Amino acid sequence: MTLSDRFFQKGRYFLGVKYPVICGAMTWVSEPGLVAAVGNAGGFGCLAGGNTPVDIFEAQIEETRKRTASPIGINLITIAPVYPQHLDLVKRLKLPYVIFAGSFPREKEVEQVKATGAKVLCFASELSIAERMLKYGADALILEGSEAGGHVGYVSLIVLLQQVLFRVPDVPIFVGGGIATGRMAAHMFLMGAAGVQMGTRFAVAEESVAHPKFKERFIRAKAREAISTPQYDSRLPVVAVRAIKNQAHRDFGRLQLDLLKQLEEGKLHRHEAQYKVEEFWVGALRKAVLEGDVDYGSLMAGQSVGLVERIQPVAEIMQDIVTEAGKEFERVKGTLM
Ligand SMILES: Cc1cc2nc3c(=O)[nH]c(=O)nc-3n(C[C@H](O)[C@H](O)[C@H](O)COP(=O)(O)O)c2cc1C
Repeated sequence: MTLSDRFFQKGRYFLGVKYPVICGAMTWVSEPGLVAAVGNAGGFGCLAGGNTPVDIFEAQIEETRKRTASPIGINLITIAPVYPQHLDLVKRLKLPYVIFAGSFPREKEVEQVKATGAKVLCFASELSIAERMLKYGADALILEGSEAGGHVGYVSLIVLLQQVLFRVPDVPIFVGGGIATGRMAAHMFLMGAAGVQMGTRFAVAEESVAHPKFKERFIRAKAREAISTPQYDSRLPVVAVRAIKNQAHRDFGRLQLDLLKQLEEGKLHRHEAQYKVEEFWVGALRKAVLEGDVDYGSLMAGQSVGLVERIQPVAEIMQDIVTEAGKEFERVKGTLM
């Protein structure tokens, strides 16, 4: 048994794939082509539910299953308007892996999905959420640090590892946020992770449907450019999303300042201001991913974007990660002798 076999064992068993490397669901990006490519390369792909109309989502699930025999994860966004229909769909289709994302699922929802035979994975971006999800019956956690791309929490992966990974030995824990190399992945396995989850690195894969301009911006971006959306005042709460800063960020900052001024002058009601804040980013991810609008769209990316250097086929990304991880296990072993 190689060292990789030893460290991959837990995640392999849980996910039913060769390599416990998850390509995290990415709305608009994680469609059947990318998900199947990850599965066919030995990893675990996740289909993004986003706010996809339920009939289209069902067709995507079918298509993915035709394109790969590998197990896949179905990612549901609990705050999406279409979520109740997505939930009914996964229960009806009895899908083997369901991932709750966006916010927390209700305990009853976790129970219902588990009752169909599915394994349930829940995101945790802080200790209290991890504890709550385990209490609800999550079969595994995805511990996601604030370095990650997309909707993020406030705690970095390095702290979450100590708060959760080191303290919860019995449940498989997959870790993500800022990981883009096999060498780093190896250290996550050494610390006890069942697997790693990556988004940003796969977003620029050859098979990703993202627009060439979107991918090109990722390749050029520095880690420090992937920022979490700033909130200027607690009267106007902003959902934290990590994305590469662009003109939309600057406009959003100005919008918040303008709305706060109008609130102070009594020219606007708070709920109207909040509506304008929320409305600002509607459709922005689609605009960036599919239309290539890198100035006004939302370029969701993790700080790991600073480690992404080129467009590669998924199979090559997977091999790079697995080979580098294997070398790192051996290197570490050598230092311990
Ligand atoms: C463009 C983009 C869209 C994302 N959309 C989702 C999503 O729909 N559901 C979800 O659970 N996570 C989403 N994420 C998070 C990823 O699944 C993954 O957890 C994250 O990218 C890991 O951090 P990394 O970007 O540093 O690799 C998204 C990330 C990106 C970059």
